[in-house]
Amino acid sequence: MALWGGRFSQSNAESTFALSRSIDFDWRLAPYDIRASLAHLRILHSSGLISAQSAQAIKGALEELAIAVASGAFAPQPEDEDVHSALERGLTEKLGAVGGFLRAGRSRNDQVTTDLRLFAIDHVLEIASLLTSLQIAILDKAQEYVNDSAPGFTHIQHAQPVSFGHELAKHAHAFARDLDRINDWLERTSVSPLGAGALAGSSLPLNPAATAKELGFNSTFANSIDAVSDRDYVAEALFIFSLIGVHLSRIGEEWTLWASSEFAWAKVSDAYSTGSSIMPQKKNPDIAELARGKSGRLVGNLMSVLTMLKGLPFAYNRDLQEDKEPLFDSIDTLLILLPAVTGMIETTDFDREKMALAAPLGFSLATEIADYLVVKKIPFAIAHEAAGACVALCESTNRQLHQLTNAELLAIHADLDEGVREVLTVHGALSSRTTTGGTAPELVSAQIKAAKKSNLAQLALITSKQTNFMEMMSS
Ligand code: ARG
Repeated sequence: MALWGGRFSQSNAESTFALSRSIDFDWRLAPYDIRASLAHLRILHSSGLISAQSAQAIKGALEELAIAVASGAFAPQPEDEDVHSALERGLTEKLGAVGGFLRAGRSRNDQVTTDLRLFAIDHVLEIASLLTSLQIAILDKAQEYVNDSAPGFTHIQHAQPVSFGHELAKHAHAFARDLDRINDWLERTSVSPLGAGALAGSSLPLNPAATAKELGFNSTFANSIDAVSDRDYVAEALFIFSLIGVHLSRIGEEWTLWASSEFAWAKVSDAYSTGSSIMPQKKNPDIAELARGKSGRLVGNLMSVLTMLKGLPFAYNRDLQEDKEPLFDSIDTLLILLPAVTGMIETTDFDREKMALAAPLGFSLATEIADYLVVKKIPFAIAHEAAGACVALCESTNRQLHQLTNAELLAIHADLDEGVREVLTVHGALSSRTTTGGTAPELVSAQIKAAKKSNLAQLALITSKQTNFMEMMSS
């Protein structure tokens, strides 16, 4: 059913209709559209624009429609242009001309962005909740390996030994920032555009503040032209999703590397691996690879929307219809990706022995020698030189640092006495790194504990927002 046509003498070409219809992807906005219609209806009624009888009839029909949409009993038809026209068809099928009342004081321009904000808020909360589960999986796994050492890397070269729990826990902090970004986004997105009309507001006695409140928004638009054209909340959400994707891809890269036979640190569980159709021996870390690969489409969706918005004149332009598919795709991608990555992390076991054996390799304790000399008041530049000389001697004689003799150490620097042997062990190196956020196992444990505490607070916040949203939707 078309919502326009009075001034047209010819119907649309098939290709026009095919290009402009959005029902194939915007139908999922239906529950939010119905909820916003109920809020709009209340205002039309309270301001005397609709009789109590008509308002009652429309309310009943909208509620029935909500149930029929949820069950699939009411579905879009090929002739429906978009979610708004399909739902108005549903109303007029039930009520006849009375179904047309609801369009007063409202345009699809303010309607569609109201629906999309509600949809986005609902789904971002779901993603936030999945992120907290992922954080817990990371932090639990990190706790398991707090007392295990492994080489830490820079440039993918052995750098300094670290607690493997420290290595794992770092990812939880990246997601904590994503959750902060989501909280900021929720605040900024909680502005109702309903009442902006096509672009200029309305001459009817509407009450945008009341509809905003009913729909759970914190505030109402200040400029109606901006209200219908603003899609910052879509672009911002897509940026946050991209960054989550980037963080997931970095986990994916590590897991893939650690599961390789060259590393053989990670034993990814069968439940989160796949086989090869030709090589029977293969067990591949596909979840990790997909976590890496999916970041491409998340970043791509952000680029689509930013490019669509660039240079777009204000108020509504049909280009804006292109905001939906990228947003939906990124949300769907994360909803499917996050639980898989969480499960993969929960069920991966690491080879403690292999990691511990590798920890001191690659002269990763050389900094300890330099630091030892610094404590003895030797200028760092000289200490660095001396430690470098130890490494060079090891390299030329094919040994590790702890295999140098006392005499050799003293020959390199008179202050390299026997005491240095204490820090030339992985255990000594780890437990000496006690500065803020350092790799000493007790500190890592404390760090994990603190991260779990803020995770719980985040989860409580998200759950209460989800409860409020659900209550609003069903009220
Ligand atoms: N399907 C449209 C969209 O997604 C709805 C708004 C249409 N408004 C209009 N003036 N043609 O943007």
